[in-house]
Amino acid sequence: EAFDVVVVGSCMTDLVSQAPRLPKAGETIHGHKFFIGFGGKGANQCIQAARMGAKTAMVCKVGKDFFGENYIQNFKDNGVSTEFVGQTADAATGAASIVVNDAGENAIVIVAGANLLLGGEDLQQALPALSHAKVLVSQLEVSPDTSLQALRLAQENNVKTIFNPAPAIPDLDPDFYRASVVFCCNESEAELLTGVAVATVEDAGHAGQELLRRGCRSVIITLGSQGCVVLSGQEPSTGLHHVPAKPVTAVDTTGAGDSFIGALAFYMATFPTMPLQEMVSRANQVAGVSVQKIGTQASYPYKKDLPNNLFSRQQLAN
Ligand code: RIB
Ligand code: NA
Repeated sequence: EAFDVVVVGSCMTDLVSQAPRLPKAGETIHGHKFFIGFGGKGANQCIQAARMGAKTAMVCKVGKDFFGENYIQNFKDNGVSTEFVGQTADAATGAASIVVNDAGENAIVIVAGANLLLGGEDLQQALPALSHAKVLVSQLEVSPDTSLQALRLAQENNVKTIFNPAPAIPDLDPDFYRASVVFCCNESEAELLTGVAVATVEDAGHAGQELLRRGCRSVIITLGSQGCVVLSGQEPSTGLHHVPAKPVTAVDTTGAGDSFIGALAFYMATFPTMPLQEMVSRANQVAGVSVQKIGTQASYPYKKDLPNNLFSRQQLAN
């Protein structure tokens, strides 16, 4: 059975409070709404790809607990294969405490728990799926060794890889760059990895060039409302594109980057010959839908919620 998109990554239960602003150290403030949702960067990306119509499998680990059981059901409800979803009694399902302010910005603390027990043996079990996937996606909410091993296994089998270095770590193993067909990060992650302060499109271009030098085949730096910068190593001088984002009113940007990556994975698997900037422009529109609703996965659109032209083979006029 060949999957379009296989994600090796995290699952978290999101515990979300909406408040007028983010609290300061030592401060207690009143929020106005609390809800529990399905999150974790890996699972978010997988769910977005699945909702767009990709055949997906998730390689991850949850606890033998209530949240873990619920999460497995969530994958099933979204048509994601759970064949490689492991359950452990040795740690709890990952949890994320999230505060969202009135501007739609957030602050997040994750306790990765069971996610950190995903390891080499789990990857070996998933190898048949991993090695035949069209696209493999991984991030940094599981052990970095596991993420890197997944990328290497994909590379050895000529599977296209998307690596999302989130949350970013300063001393990233240089092999991550070489194992990434698409290296996709946001402005703060790009800054932490390269030391280049990223505020403008031009800055992102510089940071992106540095990431290309480290061996990525292409780089996408997402800039929120400023859209994205896309760089491709095959055309070092001409290969820099700024893809602007259509303006939207954000109520909750939590997981917007994951919606973007899930959509990108869908496009890379489904329209492999489409120019990367075109995929990025479309993925931006999908993520733009997600920020207009509260919640992480709860806000991710299905194919039926999106304009038909996002699924057409024809290139859209930009
Ligand atoms: O990227 C958003 C995600 O980060 C949330 O769903 C939360 O679980 C954290 O992992
Ligand atoms: Na949202």
